[in-house]
Amino acid sequence: MATLETVVDGLKLPNPFVIGSGPPGTNLSVISRAFREGWGAVIAKTVSLDASKVNNVSPRYAKLKSADGKEVIGWENIELISDRPLDIWIEEFKKLKDMHPEGILIASIMEEYNKDAWAELVGRCEEAGVDSFELNFSCPHGLPERKMGAAMGESPEILGEVSSWVMEAATKPVWAKLTPNVTHIEDPARAAFKAGCQGVSAINTIRSVMGVDLKTLRPEPTVEGFTTPGGYSSRAVKPIALRMVMEIAKVIEKEYPGKTISGIGGVETGFDAAEFILLGSDTVQVCTGVMKFGYAHVQKMCEELLSFMEEHKFETLADFKGHSLQYFTTHADLVERRKARKEAEAEAKAKKMVKADGEWSGDDFVKQSDALARN
Ligand SMILES: Cc1cc2nc3c(=O)[nH]c(=O)nc-3n(C[C@H](O)[C@H](O)[C@H](O)COP(=O)(O)O)c2cc1C
Repeated sequence: MATLETVVDGLKLPNPFVIGSGPPGTNLSVISRAFREGWGAVIAKTVSLDASKVNNVSPRYAKLKSADGKEVIGWENIELISDRPLDIWIEEFKKLKDMHPEGILIASIMEEYNKDAWAELVGRCEEAGVDSFELNFSCPHGLPERKMGAAMGESPEILGEVSSWVMEAATKPVWAKLTPNVTHIEDPARAAFKAGCQGVSAINTIRSVMGVDLKTLRPEPTVEGFTTPGGYSSRAVKPIALRMVMEIAKVIEKEYPGKTISGIGGVETGFDAAEFILLGSDTVQVCTGVMKFGYAHVQKMCEELLSFMEEHKFETLADFKGHSLQYFTTHADLVERRKARKEAEAEAKAKKMVKADGEWSGDDFVKQSDALARN
């Protein structure tokens, strides 16, 4: 019987589906619900030391729909990290671990460029019993104005330095969450691994402008008639996320064996998850998908992933993790392969060509006739 159970960086997960940091992990009540519905792990909404600096606006979401208006394809948000005080979060982390001792609870943390602040945040979360950390180096809106989030993640040097501060302070596994708003995702991934992080999470949202209202001429989402670029997520970002996960997986293969990836971006089905795992992910996160389909959706995703595994006779996630990486090559190599294939076909065709009337055969008659025709 195939199993979805997996151990990643020492964390024992019942399945690879992890709630991605965001609205689905905003407080004790919803996190507890996620555990009850069977999520493999939950990453809470990003916390910082001083929530009073976090001021959200609304509306803060905008959706891109399919032409028939029935499906949400893309989702933009200008939401900040958690606006709930850290003291409350610490109490809730403790209660959650009492209520769900087996549940893997991951704290997503973000701070300013200050070693003591990061160390304090790590220490307080560890005391509360969290199982591991995700470092939010990737929120593309609002926080960069305070030199946080993607402002750090866009610089491999700063990301590496801050990660090493965290590695000094933390005793639990650490994943650095990367921003896709960079030219080469390999660089921040390398910086995180070099600093000692056990894994990386990729991707956070893509910096975006959802659109412009052609009646009011105002860009969306509009707050008092104005907007600011936000973060794009949901199905539309999956191809970009897959490409980045593949690139990071290649770095791990060649330079940092044993490091892990938590793949994120547009996952809505178990089959999406299978694709991320085939490209090297150890776990798969879902954020917008939970906002679209609810917490119980994890059960359907588990069934879908198991059905994929059974079809291919894979017993464990390790049986197919990274399997499809071998099929990436350069464009020049694709050209060579195509040329070699055409040459082989021409050779086979030439072999079938009748050179004298005595060679015609009843069995191969159609093929022999075809070989003598110009294509
Ligand atoms: C409304 C909203 C709020 C988010 N807040 C956070 C956050 O606080 N911290 C974080 O690391 N990522 C945050 N994210 C990013 C998601 O965790 C995830 O990286 C991204 O949305 C792509 O995955 P998805 O397509 O499954 O949503 C947020 C995403 C959304 C849509």
